[in-house]
Amino acid sequence: MNILLIGGGGREHAMAWKLRQSPLCNALFVAPGNAGTEQLATNLSISTVDFTAIAKAVLEHQIDMVIVGPEEPLVNGIWDYFQQNASLRHVQVIGPSAEAARLEGSKAVAKAFMQRYGVPTAGYREFTIDNFEEGMEYIRNHPLPIVLKADGLAAGKGVIICNNMVEALAEFELMLQHSKFGEAGKKVVVEAFLKGIEMSLFVVTDGKDYVLLPEAKDYKRVGTADTGLNTGGMGAVSPVPFFDASLKKKVIERVVEPTIRGLQAEGLKYTGFLFFGLMIVDQEPFVIEYNCRMGDPETQVVLPRLDIDLVHLMRAAASGTLHTVTVAEHPQAAATVVAVSGGYPGPYETGKVIYGLDQVPETASVIFHAGTRRQGKEVLTNGGRVLSVSSFGEHIHFAVQESIFILELLEFEGMYFRKDIGYEFNSNLQTNGKA
Ligand code: AMP
Ligand code: GLY
Repeated sequence: MNILLIGGGGREHAMAWKLRQSPLCNALFVAPGNAGTEQLATNLSISTVDFTAIAKAVLEHQIDMVIVGPEEPLVNGIWDYFQQNASLRHVQVIGPSAEAARLEGSKAVAKAFMQRYGVPTAGYREFTIDNFEEGMEYIRNHPLPIVLKADGLAAGKGVIICNNMVEALAEFELMLQHSKFGEAGKKVVVEAFLKGIEMSLFVVTDGKDYVLLPEAKDYKRVGTADTGLNTGGMGAVSPVPFFDASLKKKVIERVVEPTIRGLQAEGLKYTGFLFFGLMIVDQEPFVIEYNCRMGDPETQVVLPRLDIDLVHLMRAAASGTLHTVTVAEHPQAAATVVAVSGGYPGPYETGKVIYGLDQVPETASVIFHAGTRRQGKEVLTNGGRVLSVSSFGEHIHFAVQESIFILELLEFEGMYFRKDIGYEFNSNLQTNGKA
C-alpha cells in the first residue's frame, strides 16, 4: 500500500523506519519530512496543516493510508476533512476525528471526560474572564504548589507550576487579562499538583478495542538530573522498570479501559494512537494529560521495541479489527538520547553543518533525524531538537551508553545532549531493565 506520513520530527523518522520494514509498505511519502526520512521515503514539501496540498498529494500519488504524526493537523480536523471529501473518503486516515482530538486540544474537555468516566486525575476547576474573580479566590484558598494550564494547544508552554501564591495570582491574571497564551489561554484549568513520577503509556485503538504498546519514560528537562527548563524531550527509555505487573493492571483497569469505554459511549471516532501522560503517586496512577498521537522522543524507543508489522497494525486499527492483533515486545531495553541546538529550548541558531554522520560504524543503534535538512552533500541543523540516537541493550544503562558513544562521533556547532538519560535506573544493573 502507498502511505503518506505527516510530520517531520524524530517521531516521524522512527515511524518511517518502522513502516519501511513492512512488506505491506509500497511507496512511502513524508510531508514535510527531514534529512533522515529522505533516505527511506520521498519527502514532500508540504506543511502539516495545509489540507488542500495534502489532499492533492494523496490523489496524485494514489495514497491508501495517511498516518498523522503531530497533534496540530489532528486538532485542526484532518480526519474530518478526508471524511467530508468524496474523493478522499476511501483513504485510511490514522488519527482521531477533530472532536476526539479535543482530548488533547482542550485540557478542560479532557478533564471533564476523565471525570465522566472515573479516570483518576488531579482535582481542578476551569475559569475564563467571566469568572476571573472567582478564580482568584479559588487560587488564594488552594494549597501550593498549584498548576495553571492554558486550555488550548500552546506548543508545550502552556503549563505553569507555581510554588508561591503571588506568582500564581500574577500568572492567572496574565493568562486571562493579558492573553499570555493568546487564544489557547482564554480558558484556564487550575489544578492540584501531583507529586510523583511521570511515565508515558500508549495504545493503538479503533475506538472500541485497543492494543497496548511498550511503555516509556521521557526526560523533559534540559539539564542533568532533570533540572532547568522544559523541552520537547531530551531522551526516553523503555521499558520503565517500575511499571510492574501490579501497576500495569491498575493502569489498564482504571485508565485505559474507562477511556476507551468513554470514546465508545460518546461516539467519538478514533483510529490510531492514544497517549496517556501518567503521574504515578505512591504506586497509584493519575492521568496528567491525553495526547492524540505518539510522543516524541518516546516513539524512538517504543517502535524499535514493538515486534509487529506497523502497517499491519495500522490497517487493523483502520478496519476495526484490532481484536485480531497481538502485539509482542522485544525484551531488550531501548534508550534514545536527543542532541539539541545550543540555546534550546530558548533561542537557537539553525543551518549548522552536522559532521560525522557518514563515519558512524555499523551498529544496532539508529540515528533518527529530527530538525535536519539536506543541502547538497551536507546535512544541516534545522530545529531545536536535531538528532535522536536510539540504542538497545540488556539494561537501559547500556543502551544509553551506546547512544552517547554514537553522539560523541557526531558534531555540530553548539551541539548539546544529556548524558544521564535513565539515571534513576542505574542502581539495578542486574535486572534486565525490568524491576
Ligand atoms: P502537560 O502539558 O499537560 O504535559 O504538562 C507539562 C508538564 O507539567 C507535565 O509533563 C508534568 O511534568 C507537569 N504537570 C502537569 N500537570 C501537573 C500536575 N497536576 N501535577 C504535577 N505536575 C504536573
Ligand atoms: N514527549 C512528550 C510528548 O511528545 O508530548
